[in-house]
Order: sequence, then structure tokens, then C-alpha cells
Amino acid sequence: MTATPTTATPTTPTPATPAQTTPALTTTTDRHLLSVADLGRAGIDDIMTLADSFKEVSERRIPKVPALRGKTVATLFFEASTRTRLSFETAAKRLSADVMSFSASSSSLEKGESLRDTVETIDAMGVDAMIVRHKSSGVPMRITSWTSASVINAGDGQHEHPTQALLDCYTIREALAARSGSGSRAGAGAEPPAGFAGLRIGIIGDIKHSRVARSNVLAFSALGADVVLVAPRTLLPPSLEGWPVEATAELDSVLPDLDVVYLLRIQAERAGQVLLPDLDEYHVRFGLTAERARRLSPQALVMHPGPMIRGVEIAPEAADLPSSLVTRQVRNGVFIRSAVLFHLLGASGPPAADAADDEKSGNA
Ligand code: MLT
Repeated sequence: MTATPTTATPTTPTPATPAQTTPALTTTTDRHLLSVADLGRAGIDDIMTLADSFKEVSERRIPKVPALRGKTVATLFFEASTRTRLSFETAAKRLSADVMSFSASSSSLEKGESLRDTVETIDAMGVDAMIVRHKSSGVPMRITSWTSASVINAGDGQHEHPTQALLDCYTIREALAARSGSGSRAGAGAEPPAGFAGLRIGIIGDIKHSRVARSNVLAFSALGADVVLVAPRTLLPPSLEGWPVEATAELDSVLPDLDVVYLLRIQAERAGQVLLPDLDEYHVRFGLTAERARRLSPQALVMHPGPMIRGVEIAPEAADLPSSLVTRQVRNGVFIRSAVLFHLLGASGPPAADAADDEKSGNA
């Protein structure tokens, strides 16, 4: 019998919670996932609940369900990726979808084909979802007008990376639940909140060029957390008007109060210029050094979306702390992306015949 949550209903999208200073690039539809704002608080909660089911599936002897059998998912990556592409492809395969993998560097784009022709070519083969990463903000939204498939934003320029934010929320929720379940609150310092309300999350580093920061500010604040951005002036957006955050350049003044220390890579490929005179100096002022790691509250969680540049935003000792959730984030990414795919493509439930097939495959 399949344990895929066939009763799950699609969420009703709600308008964006915090305003952004970036152009409004989102659409509000239950067919696509372009921004965290497409989901709102209720939608984020629904995806996390659905992800719990896929976490359970991953613990089975055969970690696969037939929920998306007969569906085709295409990954269209116009920019480099290791974890996001593999994570989406793993998620789609665990739901029994067929996966088509497009890579810009080995495509007809190299011969001068336009983005639109490329998308329409893939669409003509019959796909149900396109998972898109592109260096320009807004490309996934543009693609929605060239295809009838669901479009999922896997990172567009410095705009958004919604599934990263969802997996980060899920990872924090899991860590808080494990802590309250084990009753282990030993150690110095104030007790951290048991949920997102009142949780103090510091996002540290290159906020200006980070799509992860934009999606995470939307998601964390929608769930009730207090977000503080920590960066030098050159790595903050020109205006933070409408962002529900505090901002500071003094890491040491906020560090002791942080429940979550979320570090970002310097996005040199997006900056197009040298933003920092000296990476060693950056490490000293804004990095999670080994010495700062020792000063963290014993309950503080350390996170990073990857790829981590050890020695710049995080010292190797800090990256490998027991409180570092970096590999948990990667693992949870598969559950969250399974939930997103199921939410967009599979909410009508798997065909009846699948249940019997599932029993034969040992998942009864
Ligand atoms: C991204 O694609 O934005 C990554 O997950 C973060 C990074 O590249 O630093």
C-alpha cells in the first residue's frame, strides 16, 4: 500500500508577506513555485507536513513510491549546480517520475538557439514540470508563458531560491523538535524558543547577491522568526525598505543572541566586480571563525546552503561542529523537493493500480 499522502490538498496561495525591494517577479498560482510568496505561511506549513511523509518513505527498504508514475519532470539548468539538480532529480525518481536532464553547456544554446525555442522544444516532448535555474532574475516566470508545464524556480539570479528556503525551514523545525523531544536543554544561555515565533536568525554574508537570503527572509519571517542581516555595507542591497529585518555590520554584537547562524557564500559570479579588498579580512570580521564558534550559545544551530567556502565565511572547525546542520539541509532537500513535486503534480493521488504494484515492490 502506498503511504504517499493521497489526501493532501493543494494549498491556497496567499499574497507575499514581506515586501521586497527587488522587482515583483512572482506570480500567485498553485501550478508553479516561483517564490516563497506563492505559498505564504499556510503553504510553507503544508509543504513541511508533506515532507514528513517523504522522510518516512526514505526510511523504507525501497525508498520509492509510484505517486508520479507517468509524469515527466525536466531539469533545465542554465547555471552550475551540484546539490539542487541532484536533489530535484532524486526527489522526482523517488516519486517514480521520468526525468529529463538539460544542461545549457551541452545544448543547442551553444549554437545560438534562443531560450524560448529551447523551452518550446522541451515542452513539445511533453513534460509535466520544468525545474529551472538561470543566472537572470525572472527567467522561470518568463518560461511560464511558453509552456503548459508547472515551472519550479531552482534559483534565478539574485531573486529567489524557494526550495532552499523551504528545506531550511524544515531543517530548523526538525532540529527544534528533536531538541524538545530529547528534553536536552542543558548548558548555559537562555532557552531557545520551541518554534519559529521569537527565534532569532542571523543571515550573515553576501545578502546583496543572494537569492537564498531573499527567499529565507520571506520564509523565516512568514513563520514568525526575527531575522537580522549581518554584512558589510557593500554586501547589503542599496535599500532594505520593506524587508522585515534588522541589519548590522557588527557580527560580534549579535552573535551571542542568535538561535540560528546562517552563513552565505560571497557570490563573486553575480557581483561582476571585486567587492571585498581582502578575503582574510572578511573572514576576521564576518566569518564564523573557530573562536566565534566557541562563543556561540550552546543551543545555536549553524547552517549554510552550500557550496561552503571554508576559510572565508566559515572556518573548517565551525563547519564540522555537531551543531552544524549542513548535511541535514542537503538530506532534507530531497524530502522538501519531493513534497513540492507532489504538491504541484500529484495531488490528485496515484492511480489505483499503483497500490498493488507498490505492495509487490516491498513497500506494503
Ligand atoms: C544558490 O544556488 O544560490 C546556492 O544554493 C547558494 C550559493 O550558490 O552560494
